[in-house]
Amino acid sequence: MPNEIHPEIYPPSPEVMAAAYIKSHDEMIHKASEDPEGFWADRAREFEWFKPWDKVLDDSNKPFFKWFVGGRTNIAYNCLDRHVKTWRRNKLALIWEGEKGEVRTFSYHALNREVCKFSNVLRSMGVKKGDRVTIYMGRVPELPIAMLACAKVGAVHSVVYGGFSVEALHGRIDDSQSNVVITCDGSWMNGKIVELKNIVDEALKRCATIEHVIVVKRTGQQVQMESGRDYWYDDLMGLPVARALAGGNRSETEVMDAEDPLFLLYTSGTTGKPKAILHTHGGYMVGVATTLQWAFDLKEEDRWWCTADPGWITGHSYIVYGPMLLGATSFMYEGAPTFPYPNRWWSMIEKYGINVFYTAPTAIRGLMRFGEAWPNRHDLSALRLLGTVGEPINPEAWRWYHRVIGKGKCPIIDTWWQTETGMFMITPLPATPLKPGSATKPFPGIIADIYDEAGKPVAPGEEGFLVLKNPWPAMMRTIYNDPDRYVQQYWSKYPGVYFTGDSARKDADGYIWVIGRVDDVIKVSGYRLGTAEVESALVSHPAVAEAAAIGLHHEIKGHAIHTYVMLKAGYEPSEALAEELKAHVGHEMGPIAKPEKITFVKQLPKTRSGKIMRRVLKARAQGLPEGDLTTLEE
Ligand code: WT7
Repeated sequence: MPNEIHPEIYPPSPEVMAAAYIKSHDEMIHKASEDPEGFWADRAREFEWFKPWDKVLDDSNKPFFKWFVGGRTNIAYNCLDRHVKTWRRNKLALIWEGEKGEVRTFSYHALNREVCKFSNVLRSMGVKKGDRVTIYMGRVPELPIAMLACAKVGAVHSVVYGGFSVEALHGRIDDSQSNVVITCDGSWMNGKIVELKNIVDEALKRCATIEHVIVVKRTGQQVQMESGRDYWYDDLMGLPVARALAGGNRSETEVMDAEDPLFLLYTSGTTGKPKAILHTHGGYMVGVATTLQWAFDLKEEDRWWCTADPGWITGHSYIVYGPMLLGATSFMYEGAPTFPYPNRWWSMIEKYGINVFYTAPTAIRGLMRFGEAWPNRHDLSALRLLGTVGEPINPEAWRWYHRVIGKGKCPIIDTWWQTETGMFMITPLPATPLKPGSATKPFPGIIADIYDEAGKPVAPGEEGFLVLKNPWPAMMRTIYNDPDRYVQQYWSKYPGVYFTGDSARKDADGYIWVIGRVDDVIKVSGYRLGTAEVESALVSHPAVAEAAAIGLHHEIKGHAIHTYVMLKAGYEPSEALAEELKAHVGHEMGPIAKPEKITFVKQLPKTRSGKIMRRVLKARAQGLPEGDLTTLEE
């Protein structure tokens, strides 16, 4: 059993306990389970509602759950308008550092002013409640400003990670039917420019719906501006209309139904077509703020740094919405962790006095290999709590993080959750005794279990499928444009129970140990990619007849993509062609999807019905038994 393999237990430190909002994880789990609706209603009352809800949970049309039914609010109102009415107007909402060392800061007042102006710009372009807006930017302050401005006018943002490329962007714009794209000329990453505007231009040649492109000037290189379609952000923000609509620098905040959509976020699944996960204003707000406050014990005076990119759910929930809902100070960094040296992150923790720091196992492993001297050059003593997310953390990295970064005094909050769940689902609270490598127990109000194939809970120590047994406020509501896929993907393996796609074990103390994905999703450096997306990028190259992608263990990235390619007649395998195919996937999908290795094969293992048997490829690559081959084609 996992706790026998790693028998260490780290009890909470007295200092952390003394400050903690929640003094006992188990007691709170118990309390929430007695009356889950009352529990979430209490949390919801922390926010401003234009009209209170009539019903906390409507489960009459499962699995299309509704939360805070009849309630009216706006998440942007609770992130900004609410705070600028108080002393917090002068508190820093956002501190930003560019890769070259530039610093920009925004008080709640200043952030609200920029969001108001930009929401006026959006309105003047005809953007209204329910419209979709695609945001494809680097990590600059205008990204959270754009997200909050969309929320303010009731538009639905669809942020596409700035590391994605042409085909990924095109597919997401097309599926969401956006009319507006907000982008940058370029973004800085590792001292180099990522040509965002050029990628947008190329993607838009394949898209029909886009009317306007708004471009933030960041890198300053020459870009093509199409007249009548493309506008500079700064020019628009300088127009009288940005200030005029509501007088001064104000702008009306749209009154939204609790269940109105807030954003779409595309994530990879088992098919080549990414799924648009839909989240709402009301429930998402309550779930995200509560989890951040309780798991990371975020206090008024804290400075919080989540190193994710706002283009992923982690950034949505815990760089932008969660911290702003709590009136906290969120720090955001533009560039690479090792630029120009491997102490970049540690130097910024010291410089800004970061108290609570949240990152990913892959980043910890990557920085670990540069040695302890780099972090030891810096005063990290302001740190109170540390966090991790994205994939299971190996105990070795956990211990290094705990000892070298946390100096043995900061609990490691290992948060298990998904794009779909919107908020932490399984996570320690500061009071939870920790076991390295385990995300410990469900957040209060959440019921998790581990099932066998038949839907029976497995015995302690046994591996099974991780499931969630009751609804929670920040849960996805559907897959945009594809409700059938929502039902089929998440609620059909076990009726009435949410299927996570992960395997896990529970130990004798009830601690959950997540093992990994059981579907065709690969986590590369914590980023979620679908094998089918990589395969479809490969077959879009003229030389490729068929392709299969699998994830194999990688020391730093956790998993890396390995692909098997069958060439069309007339093409010969070569090192040069392999490199060309890798570059092609990078161009279409983005650098993170570039295969680690391409193997040319004459045939792929397939079932008689023609499905590629990836598990056979995986077993072969690992030198493991190939399992049941009865369905393998002759
Ligand atoms: C998948 C979801 C949710 C934030 C970032 C990822 C894996 C996530 C953990 C963790 C073990 C984890 C799971 C999950 N995962 N956090 N703490 N321990 N595995 O979101 O891209 O939607 O990926 O990431 O496999 O299903 P995502």
